[in-house]
Amino acid sequence: MLVLTGISTLVTNDTTLERGKLGIIENAALVVGDDNKIAFAGESSNLPREYKSTAIDLNGRAIIPGFVDSHTHLVFGGDRAEEFEARMSGKSYSAGGIRTTVAATRNSNNDDLVANARRLASEALQTGTTTLETKSGYGLSVVDEARSLQVANAITTESTFLGAHVVPSESQVNAYVDLVCGEMLAQCAPHAKWIDVFCDRGAFEVDHARAILQAGAKAGLGLRIHANQLQHGGGVQLGVELGVASCDHCTHLDQADITALADTKGKTVATLLPTAELCTRSKFPDARRLIDAGVTVALASDCNPGSSYTTSMPLVISLAVLNMNMTCDEALWSATAGGAAALRRSDIGNLAVGSHADFAILNSRSHIHLAYRPGVKLIDAVYSRGQLVAGSLR
Ligand code: NIG
Ligand code: FE
Repeated sequence: MLVLTGISTLVTNDTTLERGKLGIIENAALVVGDDNKIAFAGESSNLPREYKSTAIDLNGRAIIPGFVDSHTHLVFGGDRAEEFEARMSGKSYSAGGIRTTVAATRNSNNDDLVANARRLASEALQTGTTTLETKSGYGLSVVDEARSLQVANAITTESTFLGAHVVPSESQVNAYVDLVCGEMLAQCAPHAKWIDVFCDRGAFEVDHARAILQAGAKAGLGLRIHANQLQHGGGVQLGVELGVASCDHCTHLDQADITALADTKGKTVATLLPTAELCTRSKFPDARRLIDAGVTVALASDCNPGSSYTTSMPLVISLAVLNMNMTCDEALWSATAGGAAALRRSDIGNLAVGSHADFAILNSRSHIHLAYRPGVKLIDAVYSRGQLVAGSLR
């Protein structure tokens, strides 16, 4: 049992409270039951008497749900600092850089891959991420994709098979698509919850992406797609056609794409990854237009060694607010409940009674500081399943 009082702002994302989308309670108390789920979230003045004796006073700090980072690529070897430096000297980003990491990943043993993925997951935890999805996609052979998923499963239950990241240099596209849909899927599906395809310039075209996602659905996997990152194409329309949980990136959209996403009524989430635009010096996605059209928007880090080598969801939130015209409330919702929606989960990303006790204690009185104080360490403590996993209460 954990009882916290003196919470200046408690963000619950619980719409049943009828306090807006964020379900904000001021002067709040939060109780975690012995099942490590939320047992009470309400005003301190309504805290049941039996909890009062063990209460810990937070002296006016904010609590938010732990971030749900629904798009990362943490299974890889090496890094691409030289590619980044060349890009900052004027070279443009292309999907082809993925092959550099494929070579380094194939040369890494499982222990090293697990250690690197754990290092990044722990980095993410320090900045408030309590759930993350992660993908294979730097193996691109049957053996290397299957072991990449086993590495992913060492850090999360939300693992995604991304054999269709790019065509590896030793393969021809048609033969590789057949491999992904056949032997590779057969070996990988038992280790994955989701399947994803990079449908874009330099990666996979729409018809191949459709075949791969349909094969994944037949194998029992949930669907996600990397779409419309590098140019406008048919990826988002394909995602909507197949009812994917999430179309990710959504940087280059036309009105038909936005209408199609809105018409799904939240079944297909648009996951925006602004640190990928930041680190590739690209234009940011038009979050305002998506939200105003009624699209459900998630925010995620896309942490990977090429286009976005950061795990920081606070940075993602500040970019979304400062560069993408999202409000502070919208950005926090998208980084928590929005991420949960992109993973089709309702037990995380909120602090309603009965949800998992995954939350972060900020060192400020309000969640607005996440955007207002970019780049500053704002997380005092992180709880996952009711246990203190990062920082401290003081
Ligand atoms: O989401 N877009 C495809 N995959 C990654 C980039 C991977 C890489 O450059 O290594 C992304 O940005
Ligand atoms: Fe990605």
